[in-house]
Amino acid sequence: MSKTIFDLSDLAGIDRYKLLTGLVIPRPIGWVGSRDGSGCNNLAPYSYFNLVAATPPTAIFSAGRPDGRIKDSLANVMATGEFTLSIVDESLTGAMHASSEQFPPDVDEFKQVGLTAVTGEAVGAPFVDEAMAVLECRVNQIIDLGDPVTASVVLGDIVRLHVDDDVLDGTRIDHQRLRAVGRIAGTTYVTTANALFEVET
Ligand SMILES: Cc1cc2nc3c(=O)[nH]c(=O)nc-3n(C[C@H](O)[C@H](O)[C@H](O)COP(=O)(O)O)c2cc1C
Repeated sequence: MSKTIFDLSDLAGIDRYKLLTGLVIPRPIGWVGSRDGSGCNNLAPYSYFNLVAATPPTAIFSAGRPDGRIKDSLANVMATGEFTLSIVDESLTGAMHASSEQFPPDVDEFKQVGLTAVTGEAVGAPFVDEAMAVLECRVNQIIDLGDPVTASVVLGDIVRLHVDDDVLDGTRIDHQRLRAVGRIAGTTYVTTANALFEVET
């Protein structure tokens, strides 16, 4: 087997991104709902997203800062300390992808892509009512990466969890029914309902 070794600092940004995100797959998608100071809702997908602990319940997402620009989700989360993470299933993939367009800060992406915004129970940020599951989060800390800063990692305490009863059995999730979507690359996605196999134990 022959392998190519990369020093990532030698690569152009787009090549570094394609290489790394092509390898760590599928990447789960956190559909970040937030609200700005004037009450305008914001929604955008982030696949630098994951759970990092169940005790304490903690999720992360990371927002890049292209040309130093602070994305709307990050600006809102920095200002309010609150956000939601809606889980994307197959039926919502088109709307999720459409919500990644760079809309001006005063545009409500929920309305743009035809979704219903509902305010969280414990936080003032909106979530996607059509989603099968939602995590309500309060900021634990925000870690800036790079010098100058090129990305910010948001750690959130998960303070509420909403799960549709159709995918729930007590505290267990039926992943076949959830049909959660992960990103492979570009416009290619995968769901938890296909490509499954069991390891022999
Ligand atoms: C599936 C998917 C995943 C994405 N993941 C990220 C991510 O992890 N970090 C990021 O900065 N942008 C990510 N993007 C791009 C943002 O969604 C896009 O920049 C969006 O306009 C940000 O919106 P906002 O300014 O309202 O936060 C992703 C886009 C898609 C379609």
